[in-house]
Amino acid sequence: MRYKKSGKVFAMANQKGGVGKTTTTVNLASALALLGLKVLVIDSDPQGNASSGLGINTQQMEHHLYHCFTNEADAGQAIRQVDKVGNLFILPTHVDLIGIEVELMSAVKRERFLSDLLAPLLDSYEIILIDCPPSLGLLTINALTAADAIIIPLQCEYYALEGLSQLVRTIRLVKNSYNHNLFIEGIVLTMYDRRNRLTHQVAKEVKQHFKTQVYDTVIPRNVRLSECPSHGLPIHQYDKHSTGALSYMNLGKEFIERLKERSHGNA
Ligand SMILES: Nc1ncnc2c1ncn2[C@@H]1O[C@H](COP(=O)(O)OP(=O)(O)OP(=O)(O)O)[C@@H](O)[C@H]1O
Ligand SMILES: [Mg+2]
Repeated sequence: MRYKKSGKVFAMANQKGGVGKTTTTVNLASALALLGLKVLVIDSDPQGNASSGLGINTQQMEHHLYHCFTNEADAGQAIRQVDKVGNLFILPTHVDLIGIEVELMSAVKRERFLSDLLAPLLDSYEIILIDCPPSLGLLTINALTAADAIIIPLQCEYYALEGLSQLVRTIRLVKNSYNHNLFIEGIVLTMYDRRNRLTHQVAKEVKQHFKTQVYDTVIPRNVRLSECPSHGLPIHQYDKHSTGALSYMNLGKEFIERLKERSHGNA
């Protein structure tokens, strides 16, 4: 499954809350690891849902992302291997990270902290997924500056497109100011309800606008996906036969196919 020597970084971003950013980060990471890639998840949301969803006790960590931002630890000290999943690693977070946006406010190149932090790791991982908080603040700007591309989890509901245009403006801003090669890798439709007319309507509009950027694979609403975080397990460890597990595995395959197509196109 190898397609490139040094790691590619993806920001999982959408400033709208509860749209499936963390669920997609954790379970796409798990799928990619099972497909043979060495994957690192960066939990850049002070809520710490990706950390706890991957089995980290966020109250009992010696080092975490906040320490890396404040130079109290380097990333290597904070990164942990995820139990029971070979190939999958996490740089966990802590609620302290909530203060970092204010602490960094007057720092020089404050948008580049995460990018600088990740630079020495790029040769050690094939894929790095950054779980962003539900805002367009400094943590998300850092993720967009550090990333090669963005993956947008999108729930098909009222106002989904409005939120998306705000996100696209921010992406343009970061692209113009800090990261000229940034692009949207893909849009994942999450919590997809085939029986709901609104879902179809919003999906159609998103596809009209973003065309092939929308992944063919959609993630249905699946109760097993909402249960697995409380067990600290990705879906493939919790219930590998569930529709949630199969959907994220299909997304992983489609994701890799797209990367391969692009790397052949650039060859
Ligand atoms: N496909 C799904 N089926 C069922 N429940 C889901 C699915 N995807 C996500 N959920 C549930 O919806 C809630 C929100 O999902 P998640 O935490 O992934 O969103 P988020 O965008 O990361 O939220 P936040 O903006 O707060 O970080 C969670 O309780 C999660 O378990
Ligand atoms: Mg989240």
